[in-house]
Amino acid sequence: MNAPIAEVLVGSDELAAKVDELAARISADYAGEEILLVGVLKGAVFFMADIARRITTPVALDFMAVSSYGSSTDSSGVVRILKDLDLEIAGRHVLIVEDIIDSGLTLSYLLKNLRSRKPASLEVCALLTKPSRRRTEIPCKYVGFEIPDKFVVGYGLDLADHFRTLDFIGVLTPEAAAEIMEEAGSLL
Ligand code: IMP
Ligand code: MG
Repeated sequence: MNAPIAEVLVGSDELAAKVDELAARISADYAGEEILLVGVLKGAVFFMADIARRITTPVALDFMAVSSYGSSTDSSGVVRILKDLDLEIAGRHVLIVEDIIDSGLTLSYLLKNLRSRKPASLEVCALLTKPSRRRTEIPCKYVGFEIPDKFVVGYGLDLADHFRTLDFIGVLTPEAAAEIMEEAGSLL
């Protein structure tokens, strides 16, 4: 795809190396245990697929879909579950796999929700974080990259469902971003 990208923040080799590094840490930390990876749809699917195959301890996979009310680039903090887990998590070691922590409001809700189901342990693995945007503190044990306050796409992350399949993390040109937002707005 010839994507209208202004800047590449994380290249595909860097992504692969970070996935290996995080998977090695997770494999060591959970040695001898089975992990239930909970991917947050849809942004985390590529990260989840890649890291799950690099973890050497047994893993089971499940997914949740949530939507936060608000505009497409700003989280409101009000979270709705669109798809819940298929599996019971009581007594299991649960690791939430998320694409990016922005305000932290989505994860804060998810952590509270999943904690109430009494997992044996509950941790977070996020590929990206934008610390300057944080509105609530999130205990995130595994973090890939800290990025500046820029809206990014690729490797699962989207703008109005576009650009998820790019194999790097990049920032759109302002013209492309404006065009997609306008198009998405006219579909509402
Ligand atoms: P939070 O609740 O503000 O932390 O929002 C987290 C969710 O917003 C992420 O899981 C993404 O789906 C989305 N998001 C936040 N920042 C970006 C971005 O830069 N690009 C694409 N999606 C983003
Ligand atoms: Mg997400």
